[in-house]
Amino acid sequence: MSPLRDSDPIAVAAEIARALPHRMRELAPAVQPPAAEVRAHLAAEWDLGVARPAQEVVRATAALLERWSTHVVHPRYYGFFNPSVTPESVAGDLLAAAFNPQLAAWTHAPAACEIERHLLRALGAAIGFGAPDDFLAHFTSGGAEANHSALLIALTHRFEGYDRDGLAACPRRPSFYVSAGAHDSFPKAAHAVGLGRSACRKVAVDSAFRLDLDALAAQIALDRAAGLEPCFLAATVGTTACGALDSLAGAAKLCARENLWLHVDGAWGSAWALVPEMRAHFAGIERADSLTLDAHKALQVPMGAGMLFCRHPESVRRAFRTATDYMPSGTAVTDDPYSSTMQWSRRAIGLKLFVALASLGLPGAIEMLREMARRGDALREKLAAAGWEIVAPTPLPLVCFTRASLGTDETAVRAAADGVIASGAAWIAPIRAPDGRWLLRACITSHLTSNADLDVLVTALA
Ligand SMILES: Cc1ncc(COP(=O)(O)O)c(C=O)c1O
Repeated sequence: MSPLRDSDPIAVAAEIARALPHRMRELAPAVQPPAAEVRAHLAAEWDLGVARPAQEVVRATAALLERWSTHVVHPRYYGFFNPSVTPESVAGDLLAAAFNPQLAAWTHAPAACEIERHLLRALGAAIGFGAPDDFLAHFTSGGAEANHSALLIALTHRFEGYDRDGLAACPRRPSFYVSAGAHDSFPKAAHAVGLGRSACRKVAVDSAFRLDLDALAAQIALDRAAGLEPCFLAATVGTTACGALDSLAGAAKLCARENLWLHVDGAWGSAWALVPEMRAHFAGIERADSLTLDAHKALQVPMGAGMLFCRHPESVRRAFRTATDYMPSGTAVTDDPYSSTMQWSRRAIGLKLFVALASLGLPGAIEMLREMARRGDALREKLAAAGWEIVAPTPLPLVCFTRASLGTDETAVRAAADGVIASGAAWIAPIRAPDGRWLLRACITSHLTSNADLDVLVTALA
């Protein structure tokens, strides 16, 4: 064997990964170097024409990541929905990389396919989407792919012949609806499925930044009168900027009345439907046609691990059907992922979540989520005590806040967030709320964030 093969890069990487949570506390959450500095370093130091010992390469690569990253696994990264990852989930991901099972065809990966199926059925039921036999679910690269898939499935379900003829099968031009606070993967999906971005209608929100159902009904009526065919609503539970929860019960009622497919984008927030005392905020999830949930957000596993749950298995199969001579043939009892999901070659995305959840147990995962929600409440209290105004509170651990002296213009709010980041204390974001105001935003994205970490943030803001 060559000297390169004799080295143990996996052991080195594992040692670095194991030490990382402790190491993070010694680091600033973010370093933003000029691109030229990073490129110059790589050009000078990394001539790929030369071989090096793998252990050395792994250590040096980790050093680059440590030096030039926004550390989303830092306990004081209060940013977008990027979590600290549990050691169990990293171990599961390592197994996926090492075995590299190919999930395109079930016969190539019976264990991995069935682990994912088992996990998705249990999770869909635990979250209240439905009984395991009432839905079909699969992993996606993330929330954007899950939302895109949901729209494609809904169109296929609604318009006979859409899978064959596309928009030519639609008697009128389809339109669909999201709140003004919804994720921007929806206009992208509108483009990708051929509807065009203008088919994605952004509807006004109420004072808590939740979808305004009266405004939605009025928009649908206007669109019908203009010759459009309203067909899909994406309600969000846990909007990206503000953590708002649209009323799923109200949305379900409206969708039944208006004949719209109800999709729930719960990429981040719907994980808290697992927590019994928070379940009431998600009432109506059991009436949704489809649901997006990302394990790489609230559930603390590495990217990307999206999931799509759908109550119409035949429409899922029709949306992604294909047949080839060169793929191994499937079994009679199950779907082949390449012909029932958007991807073809498919990583064992679910292994990291399986190892994490099987280790913690669902009660352990629920307790972790409960603790994160408590940390969000504690942050609201600490900020209020320090004179900040909390804007549009949500039961989820995301806090938008402001104060009169800061104002709501982008420049001042951005400067305040930049000041916190430059101090090395924490990472927070300036965001524009659906009402146009610029606010500071701090989200508990890490299960490692402690009350002492909250105090560091509040002090840095002062
Ligand atoms: C509410 C919501 N939906 C969808 C997405 C897209 O998820 P992903 O980045 O995993 O594709 C995000 C991303 O933050 C989100 O916040």
